[in-house]
Amino acid sequence: MADTITTNDTTGWSLVIDNIGSLITNDPTIGRGPLGIVDDASVVIVDGRVEHVGAAGTADTQVDEWIDAEGRCALPGFVDSHTHLVFAGDRAAEFTARMAGQPYDGGGIRVTTDATRAASTADLDRLVRRRLAEAHRAGTTTIEIKSGYGLNVADEARSVEIAHAHTSESTFLGAHLLPAEYEGRADDYIHLVCNEMLVAARPTSKWVDAFCETGAFDADQCGAVLDAGRAAGLGLRLHGNQLGHGPGVQLAVEHGCASVDHCTYLTDADIGALAGSDTVATFLPATDFSTRQPYPDARRVIDAGATVALASNCNPGSSYTTSISFCIALAVREMGMTVDEAVTAATLGGAAALRRDDVGRLTRGAAGHVVVLDAPSHHHLAYRPGVPLVHRTIGPLADHPSTSASDAPDTAGA
Ligand code: NIG
Repeated sequence: MADTITTNDTTGWSLVIDNIGSLITNDPTIGRGPLGIVDDASVVIVDGRVEHVGAAGTADTQVDEWIDAEGRCALPGFVDSHTHLVFAGDRAAEFTARMAGQPYDGGGIRVTTDATRAASTADLDRLVRRRLAEAHRAGTTTIEIKSGYGLNVADEARSVEIAHAHTSESTFLGAHLLPAEYEGRADDYIHLVCNEMLVAARPTSKWVDAFCETGAFDADQCGAVLDAGRAAGLGLRLHGNQLGHGPGVQLAVEHGCASVDHCTYLTDADIGALAGSDTVATFLPATDFSTRQPYPDARRVIDAGATVALASNCNPGSSYTTSISFCIALAVREMGMTVDEAVTAATLGGAAALRRDDVGRLTRGAAGHVVVLDAPSHHHLAYRPGVPLVHRTIGPLADHPSTSASDAPDTAGA
């Protein structure tokens, strides 16, 4: 398979997307309903930004490129706010065993850590580029990428540096799992994460994250990582409530995290805390699919007033997919979300989880990141599960200039 990334980056370029049958702007002041849908629309993008949203056939023709959407639906590029793309190796056998009844407990993170440590930097970078190309083909235009399979100072610093080469949304996840060499010394490891490892990862990180779960790290340990990250000037996010009820959500809210991710097991108190906070509840339904966890009831969370996002959690263990369309279909089928809510969560919700207001919407001044679907409406994202509906992705893969790549290999593992 060819892996040349066509970024369709519109920086320094002007273009019109005309004859859009149904345009989702995510701005109810310029279109119908909460999604701000404009029928028979055109979008003008100049130098990477939306210049104008108007009626089909009315846009200025003096542009570098004219795209005829031929009545297709267009929407903001997906904002995937949770991925672990920096890894080597393959855990298909673990997935197969799980489908035969083995439970998921996160222990396979160490398997991927061994493979990632053994991979060359060039190989890791090529693997990330390949996964980014796949995500881009599936409509993702903004992406968060975590470290977390290095778990020592040099390999965590290297992982987050590779992530940062491809996105400004790079996250230091040294507190992903206790590495084997620290068995029985979790507090010593957390001390390393909060000091030497954080110092090494800091220059290329925007965010700090930790895995708050039985079998990973407890609330005190995760709280220490969040405090150290904040003191170093990083934004905060947290993995929580993935494998069972626990303190993750409350800890994230108390610390003012931008997002708490997974949220598979939520008590009423967790939902109340989320609803009264700025912390986004990010659901990762492809993980629940791949680990046979129950799906969370997003309806309760939305009805309580919390902001929700949908993300892929692309990683080799619990969710090896880059497809946000798949996540949307699962959220609608299994989590009580309407199609409109799921599309909002995968665009505006992802943007909120990254504390961004320039992506996830198609309004004047916003990033010119557009997905054109081979479908007349966004409902097809859930109605036609498994079908590659993305006709064209317009906008950079992420928002970092070094993103464009053409040398990804065909192999998924190192
Ligand atoms: O988000 N929960 C922790 N981390 C990943 C799993 C990584 C793995 O199994 O390799 C997740 O599901």
